[in-house]
Amino acid sequence: MKTLIDKIGSSRVVLSPMAGYSDSPYRKICRQMGSAYSITEFVSTEHLFRSNPKAIALFRYEEIERPLVFQVFGKDPDIVAKGINRVLHLNPDGIDLNMGCSVRTVSASGSGAGLLKTPEVARTIIRRLTAETNLPISAKIRLGWDSGNLNYKEISAMLESEGVWSIAVHGRTRQMGYSGRANWDAIGEIAEACRIPIFGNGDVTSYEEAHQKIQDYGVYGVFIGRGAIGNPWLFAGKNREFLNYAERLPTILEHVQSMAKFYGDQAAAILMRKHLTQYLHGLPEWNRMRKVVHHLTSARLLEEYLSTGMAVPT
Ligand SMILES: Cc1cc2nc3c(=O)[nH]c(=O)nc-3n(C[C@H](O)[C@H](O)[C@H](O)COP(=O)(O)O)c2cc1C
Repeated sequence: MKTLIDKIGSSRVVLSPMAGYSDSPYRKICRQMGSAYSITEFVSTEHLFRSNPKAIALFRYEEIERPLVFQVFGKDPDIVAKGINRVLHLNPDGIDLNMGCSVRTVSASGSGAGLLKTPEVARTIIRRLTAETNLPISAKIRLGWDSGNLNYKEISAMLESEGVWSIAVHGRTRQMGYSGRANWDAIGEIAEACRIPIFGNGDVTSYEEAHQKIQDYGVYGVFIGRGAIGNPWLFAGKNREFLNYAERLPTILEHVQSMAKFYGDQAAAILMRKHLTQYLHGLPEWNRMRKVVHHLTSARLLEEYLSTGMAVPT
């Protein structure tokens, strides 16, 4: 079995893949703060197979992010294998199969969490990925399709027997989407039954909480998604709520600059808005700044405004 464990430092907390958020600029910031490794958002293997440039662009990254894992989704083992072959030259450190996406267009067609309904297809995909890439393979799952089909024990046992180096488990069913609470007892059951590293995932919002979960449920580590948006300090064990504007600013500016380099000046300003809502969460300054920020269409001007607090001509 190929593993990434040797390449991961002592950190046990990881930025969970999130489409539209965990792009290269944000992964880089989180990794520098202490996220154990980097995972791209999920990318369609159908699109990769057709050499769709937008899909391939989602795998752009910087060396500093390593260890770097490409996450893919798909339902046809042959297409998954051919799709991944199109991007192996980009030299990722591992491949993660998405078996947890609950979005209807993905899961209802049999990809993402849809694979929980077809474990034999998932098994074949893992086999093909292992054979084609010679890289460490992992999977990210949910507990089952719905409460009547909680097959996480079978799925995790199957994945382990196929040689994945780790499994990340979001403690909800596909039917739950993001409602209710993640079931950490079930995550703990998987951690107890498997010998490979299990990363628990769901509703964790702080470094302390992540370490508490590791202790309480025997998981190797914890993936943090929504709680890490606009909150990279979490990976350094810092509580954003205790950081004032001046203390948050350097990281935010680094993010803006990195986004401008990655997406261009205008797109970066627009894409930063959703991050800033979270970055400046709970600060009185944000109430005043929000309107201006949402009108700025240049990262350069955004940077200036955030630095000086002075409205700048758009
Ligand atoms: C906006 C958004 C996009 C997401 N995109 C992905 C994705 O591309 N791949 C994936 O495995 N999970 C994705 N997820 C799920 C998260 O990685 C995570 O499993 C889920 O949010 C639960 O963890 P949390 O409670 O820490 O947010 C996404 C979640 C959100 C909110």
